[in-house]
Amino acid sequence: MEKRIAVLPGDGIGPEVIKQAKKVLKAVAHRHRHTFTYDVALVGAAAIDETGNPLPEETIDTCRQADAVLFGAIGDPKYDNNPNAKVRPEQGLLQLRKSLGLYANIRPVQLYPSLIERSPLKEDRIKGTDLVVYRELTGGIYFGEKGRDAEGKMAFDNCSYSIYEIERVAKMAFEAAQRRRKKLTLVDKANVLETSRLWRETVQVLSINYPDVEVEYLFVDNAAMQIIQRPSQFDVILTENMFGDIISDEASVITGSIGLLPSASVGEQTSLFEPIHGSYPEAAGKDIANPVAAILSVALLLENLEMHKEAAAVRKAVQRTIDHGLVTPDLNPNSHVSCSKVGDVISLLIETDIPSETTFENLFEGSLPFI
Ligand code: IPM
Ligand code: MG
Repeated sequence: MEKRIAVLPGDGIGPEVIKQAKKVLKAVAHRHRHTFTYDVALVGAAAIDETGNPLPEETIDTCRQADAVLFGAIGDPKYDNNPNAKVRPEQGLLQLRKSLGLYANIRPVQLYPSLIERSPLKEDRIKGTDLVVYRELTGGIYFGEKGRDAEGKMAFDNCSYSIYEIERVAKMAFEAAQRRRKKLTLVDKANVLETSRLWRETVQVLSINYPDVEVEYLFVDNAAMQIIQRPSQFDVILTENMFGDIISDEASVITGSIGLLPSASVGEQTSLFEPIHGSYPEAAGKDIANPVAAILSVALLLENLEMHKEAAAVRKAVQRTIDHGLVTPDLNPNSHVSCSKVGDVISLLIETDIPSETTFENLFEGSLPFI
């Protein structure tokens, strides 16, 4: 197959994790005889530096013309510490989500058994965790009217949702639940917020069409607690934009590192695939960032392009690399390899038939040649 992929490396560690993700795509293309062409485009602080605009028109066009978008990370401390900045890198990502109509952000949270000890939570609490967050991505407080009063002494961010916006993402979440363990948890704050009451009402009505799915309703504060206390109770979590942003970072802690979690943003136009982590500026340029979230985003991208066996090959290679302890410092400060080495090993495992019983030590006579 021939596919055109828009690549938006963005800021901080974005470019280096995307480099590894592209290595993996190259291995997939080689092994499975596909042709991927890449159109690199600017976004975020990198785009502001070059053009003054966090999302140049050209970038939107590139994404629209592509079969999929691969996105790195966004954000720069020089804007974080300047609340008066007129333009912000994050606007680039938010406008891109809006322009492409990417209303559903899908964030799977899966535990690697060999990393259980890397989680700050106790093993008996987290065993069996396998959940996915369906986060609404183009509405709510993120996109409502915002501003200040004339004197700048009062500020507001409006939160609104329509039934239409709730229904379209909720349908996706219900369908996911049907394919999975048939449980859906709506996370809201319906005891306080009117928008949350509309979410609950809409999901209640919709649920009639999915009689095989058990529906549970949780207030977000309680959900934040339950995710840490007993994550295995969750299957599909459906929630609005801001709650989804917060609880998916929280859920990532269960796995041992936010550097493991990929996401898919889907909707009306070309889908976008991105790690859930931020730009981690402290690590930028040091070759220590975890590329797994970006590489697993490639697996989601391949699945979206109907390349299922290719996606499975990427996941298997990631699993084997992790099982062999070849991880970045976020997962093991005492014994680790670099970001680019993780990319090398995963790509090699995709490209070559290395029998599963082979140990890496046997294979490379004690050490991997490229470590
Ligand atoms: C995410 C990020 C973004 C968000 C930021 C960078 C705007 O935290 O994708 O989770 O809040 O959606
Ligand atoms: Mg976030």
